[in-house]
Amino acid sequence: MTGPLDASAAPSLPAHFLFGHLPRRRRDPLGMYLESAEKLGGFTRFRFLGKSLYLVTEPDGIQRVLVENAKNYVKGFGYAAMKTVMGEGLVTAEGKTWQEQRRRCQPAFHSKRLEELLPTMNALIEESVAAWGAQPDFDLFRASLALSRRIAARALLSVDSSVDSFDELIPVLQREVSRRSLALVNFRLPFKTARERAFDDALVKLDAFVYAQIRQRRASTGRKVDLLQDLLDKYSVEEELQLRDALVTLFLAAYETTATSLTWILFLVAQHPEAAEAIAAEKDGQVFTRQVVEEGMRLYPAVWLFARKAVEDDVLAGYRVSAGSFVLISPWVNHRLTRFWENPGAFRPERFSPANRPSIPRHAFLPFSAGPRQCIGAGFAMMELVAMVSAVVRRYHLELRSPLPPQFDPLITLQPKDGMKLKLTPRRSA
Ligand code: HEM
Repeated sequence: MTGPLDASAAPSLPAHFLFGHLPRRRRDPLGMYLESAEKLGGFTRFRFLGKSLYLVTEPDGIQRVLVENAKNYVKGFGYAAMKTVMGEGLVTAEGKTWQEQRRRCQPAFHSKRLEELLPTMNALIEESVAAWGAQPDFDLFRASLALSRRIAARALLSVDSSVDSFDELIPVLQREVSRRSLALVNFRLPFKTARERAFDDALVKLDAFVYAQIRQRRASTGRKVDLLQDLLDKYSVEEELQLRDALVTLFLAAYETTATSLTWILFLVAQHPEAAEAIAAEKDGQVFTRQVVEEGMRLYPAVWLFARKAVEDDVLAGYRVSAGSFVLISPWVNHRLTRFWENPGAFRPERFSPANRPSIPRHAFLPFSAGPRQCIGAGFAMMELVAMVSAVVRRYHLELRSPLPPQFDPLITLQPKDGMKLKLTPRRSA
C-alpha cells in the first residue's frame, strides 16, 4: 500500500524558474488560483520566492483545515500587520486568547440581540440611501463604504461616524494594513515615510476615541442598545486593552467586507432588471432578496482568499503537508469551480432557493468560512445586506455606468478597481 504523497509532488501551473508564480500572482491572482484548481484538481501547489503554498479546494481537505483539525491551522500569513491595529482581537488572536475573546463576544451576536439593532439600522440606511440620489457622478463603492462605516459605528458604539472625526481615520488604517499584510517582503527603511507617520497618527487618534467611548459608557448609568453595552459587562476595568481590541477588530472586520459585498450585489442587480423588480415587489420575509445577496456573495466573495499555517504535519486531500506549510482557501475559487456549480459565471439567485440549497456541495459556498473560526458577524452581515439591498432597490432604478467586464483590486477584500459608477433614478412610488 502506498502512503500519502509529499505535498511537494502536488500539481502546479507552469512557473518562472526563479520567481515561481509571483509574476502571475501580481498580474492576475484571481485567474491563477481558479485555473489551477479547475485544471489540476483539489490540491495544488504554488511557489512564491522559494516558499511553497498549497491551495485546497477539495471539500474533505477544507473540512480538515477549518473544522476537524482546526487547532492545527493557525493564521500565519499577513496577520502581523493586522495586529498593529486590531491587537489581540478575534481576527488575529490564537489559542486561549482567541477562545476567551470568542466566548465573550458571541452572545452579542445572538439573533435576538441583532433584531434589537434592526430598527436603528433601518433608519440609518433609509436616511443615507435617500441622499444617494442627489449625488452627481455617484460612486457606489464609496457610498457603500460610508454607509457601512456608519452602521458599524452605530451598532458598536452608538456614535455617528459621519460626524465624528473617527470616520477619516479608518481608511488610513485600513489601507496601510492591507498594504503591509499583502507585501511578501517588508522592507524597513531607517526613517518613517509620510504614509507610516499618517498611519501612526491615525492609530493614536483611534485609540483615544475608543478609550473615551469605553470610559464614558462605564461612567454613565443609562444603557444603550449596542455591542459596547453587551461587551462592557464582560471585561473588567483592568481589561480595557482587550475590550479596545475586541471593538476595533469588530469594526474593521465588519465594515469593508459588508461594503464590498453590497457593491457587487448591486452591480449584479443593475444588470438584471427582472431581479430588481422582484426585490422591489417583495413585502415581508425578503426571501428572494436574501437569495440575491447570497448569489452576489457567491460570484464576488468579499473575502476571496484566506490562509492558514500548519502547526504540525498533517495529511490533506491525500498529500502530506509538513509543519510550517501555508495552506490557502479561496471562496472565489470554490464559488466558481465547474465541478461544484453549473454555469458558474451566470447570475442565478434560485441556486439558493429553499428547494435548491440542499444540493449545493459542502464547502462549495463559504463566504463566511466555516468551523470554529467562521465569521462571527455572518448573521449581522446578512441582516444588514438584505436591509440595504432592499432599501436601495425599492427607491431607485439602477443603471451601470462602469465598463464591463469589471476590473478587480484583490486586496484583503475583493474591491472594484476605480470604484463602481451607477446612475440612480428614483422609482415613481419612492
Ligand atoms: C459580507 C460581510 C462579511 C464577510 C464576507 C465576512 C467574511 C469573513 C470570513 C471569510 C472570515 C474568516 C477569515 C479567516 O478565517 O481568515 C471572517 C471572520 C470574522 N468576521 Fe466576518 N465577514 C463579514 C462581515 C462581518 C461583520 C459584520 C462582522 C462583525 C460585526 C464580522 C466579524 C468577523 C470576526 C470578528 C471574524 C474573526 C472570527 C474568529 O476568528 O473567531 N464580519 N469574516
